[in-house]
Amino acid sequence: MAPAVADALPTAPHNLSVPTDIFPDGLKTTGQHPPLYDQIAPFDKFPKEITGKTVWKPEDYSNNPEKWTYAFSPEEIEELSTASDNFMAAKIPLTGITKNNFVLPKLGGYLAELREDLINGKGFILFKGFPVEKWGNHKCAVAYMGLGTYLGYFVSQNSRGHVLGHVKDLGEDSAQIDKVRIYRTNARQFFHSDDSDVVGLLCIARALEGGESDIASSHHVYNTLAKERPDVLKTLTEPIWYFDRKGETSQGQDEYIRTSVVYLERGENPRVYTKWDPYYVRSLSRFSDAGIIPPLSPAQHEAIQVLEDTCMRLSLHMVLEVGDIQFLSNSHVLHSRTAYKDHAPPAPRRHLMRLWLATPESEGGWKLPFWDSNEKKRGGIQVDNQRLFAHWMPSNL
Ligand SMILES: [Fe+2]
Repeated sequence: MAPAVADALPTAPHNLSVPTDIFPDGLKTTGQHPPLYDQIAPFDKFPKEITGKTVWKPEDYSNNPEKWTYAFSPEEIEELSTASDNFMAAKIPLTGITKNNFVLPKLGGYLAELREDLINGKGFILFKGFPVEKWGNHKCAVAYMGLGTYLGYFVSQNSRGHVLGHVKDLGEDSAQIDKVRIYRTNARQFFHSDDSDVVGLLCIARALEGGESDIASSHHVYNTLAKERPDVLKTLTEPIWYFDRKGETSQGQDEYIRTSVVYLERGENPRVYTKWDPYYVRSLSRFSDAGIIPPLSPAQHEAIQVLEDTCMRLSLHMVLEVGDIQFLSNSHVLHSRTAYKDHAPPAPRRHLMRLWLATPESEGGWKLPFWDSNEKKRGGIQVDNQRLFAHWMPSNL
């Protein structure tokens, strides 16, 4: 296929000065930004059909969990345990964990293969057998973040600089959609992608009921929409969508970002990239009511519903047991979760530890039409020079 757009390196103005007293490794999460509008391809440049490993149907996997689950062997658990003990003994802050101070001589080879499959293949994996009860939250957090360093650079997930997220119902009101991040509630999540290249979820405690995961290949969804509803697909490729920052806004930034939902990569043979969360486009009525941004059009409302329904129809259901870790690629997998109900106290509430990982273009990541495509810690949520934290106990939030 001919290149859809010029493969220009991102050059939008930005400030790369990183204070090393706040970010000791010199790397700062770049956060969310508008796209390079001149790199947004028109719909007629998009492929008619996508082929390859990124296109999968639920029936390819629903009865073959061995194709997408990986049970840690006793030797691999031992290796993770030793690396974690050594890291903790060295008294390095958890935000300073890297492949160099968390060495995995055996598992590292497999993780390189997995990283390739996450970025360029089916885009998901479910690890089994992380000994969360034996290790407890602190050692689990170290082992989990250490594992993550083999897949990408951890980025900040919110305005408070959290690189280890705690997905838990903190009693916040999911109806306050312009203020509340849904991962901190027990509400259903619609199909979406997170603001990073890869997302990981480690299950520490399950809910009484619900809280289960559904994932869909956005390339299969794309092919289906191309056949059934090309009008919807076209709407999704247009940079007419406003996404809320939900108040997680650095000085000088707008409270929202105008962008597309479905993009093409830069360069030759561009792949289709999807970046979506309906909660973030529905929550902007405070600006559209004031005439500052346009309200969602009827075509956009319909596109939101058709996308959600199509994802649901084409989704693979997945249950995370205690000690499971799910890693997903956000470039070409959309995910949702069912609403849930927690156990009554004193039983533990549903609790997942979340990682957001960046895979920069220079290290094999997708060529995104954003200025920060080459940045090591691209994406995530960064507000001004907020320092990073890796709280291993949710009570510290
Ligand atoms: Fe998510």
